[in-house]
Amino acid sequence: MTQKKDTSTILAIESSCDDTAAAVLKHGKILANEVANQKIHEQYGGVIPELASRAHTQNIVPVVDLALKKSKVTINEITHIAYTLGPGLKGSLMVGTHFAQAMANTLNIPFIEINHLQAHVAALYIQNPKPVFPFLCLLVSGGHTQIIKVNDYLSFEIIGETLDDAVGEAFDKGAKMLGLPYPGGPHINQLAQGGNTHFFELPKTNLPDFNFSFSGLKTALLYHLNKQKEINPNYIKENLKNICATWQHSLIQNLIRQFEKAIKQHQIKSIAISGGVSANTELRKAIEQLGIKHNCEIMIPNFEYCTDNAAMVAISAYHQIIN
Ligand code: KG4
Ligand code: ZN
Repeated sequence: MTQKKDTSTILAIESSCDDTAAAVLKHGKILANEVANQKIHEQYGGVIPELASRAHTQNIVPVVDLALKKSKVTINEITHIAYTLGPGLKGSLMVGTHFAQAMANTLNIPFIEINHLQAHVAALYIQNPKPVFPFLCLLVSGGHTQIIKVNDYLSFEIIGETLDDAVGEAFDKGAKMLGLPYPGGPHINQLAQGGNTHFFELPKTNLPDFNFSFSGLKTALLYHLNKQKEINPNYIKENLKNICATWQHSLIQNLIRQFEKAIKQHQIKSIAISGGVSANTELRKAIEQLGIKHNCEIMIPNFEYCTDNAAMVAISAYHQIIN
């Protein structure tokens, strides 16, 4: 594929869920990547869409302003505005969309609409400008769990996905049952360190293709906790580390089983993870081991590019411009 000459300076905006983010990319390099996390949802155990939209409205101007200041790029140097079109929460997306389109119209420059999942995959190119194609990407976030065969910067196919909950959602719902704040994934990850990964039994899901299912596991955790709490009301408090370690291990093993099957059947020698759950330390280790076992190249994003951010939106737009 011949690439066009790049003269772009992109301002990117991401507002698909509960993080308001802005980034600046100049000539293929990320110069600023700012995120305003919304703490308001912690107390509710999940994202409240109306509160998320309101917080985006409050955060968007300061976040864009900060990204521009940090990048030392002036508003008149920007050649394109990229923003997340979807999928995501309607009201949240609308804040980013309106802001980005209004700014592009005012500056009389084009805007580029970006698919959120494509952006999570593109996050890998920030550190790997010349990835080995095709590669298999395990995309794991709060809303999606997919195995994607990435053929080129702009071409990919989904070969497997969750039939019910996303794995991030399973982390968060498990955390909620344990009384941990939202988002629960990072709390489970931290508490699981050094815990017993086989403290109690959880079922293994084994679907015939490359799909995933987490709802049965979630029910099994709920039943286990209810039963144990009847015997000992302090069961969770006294065993939190081991429960987190077992829950996390079970979720990761379910991901790895299907991903390994896909690697074998597609005979692909380049693998990657992306999305919020790719920040999970047990998953990162498991992917490294899988790469060694199957002699594959591995791509794992830096922590700042795992959870929602605008740098991934910017790099995605950049590849649309040059390819
Ligand atoms: O990609 P992301 O920021 O937003 C969506 O597109 O959904 O992913 C958020 C998800 C949440 O479910 C959060 O609990 C999970 O990523 N997450 C983690 C970790 N860090 C974030 N899950 C497990 N371990 C982590 N370290
Ligand atoms: Zn995301």
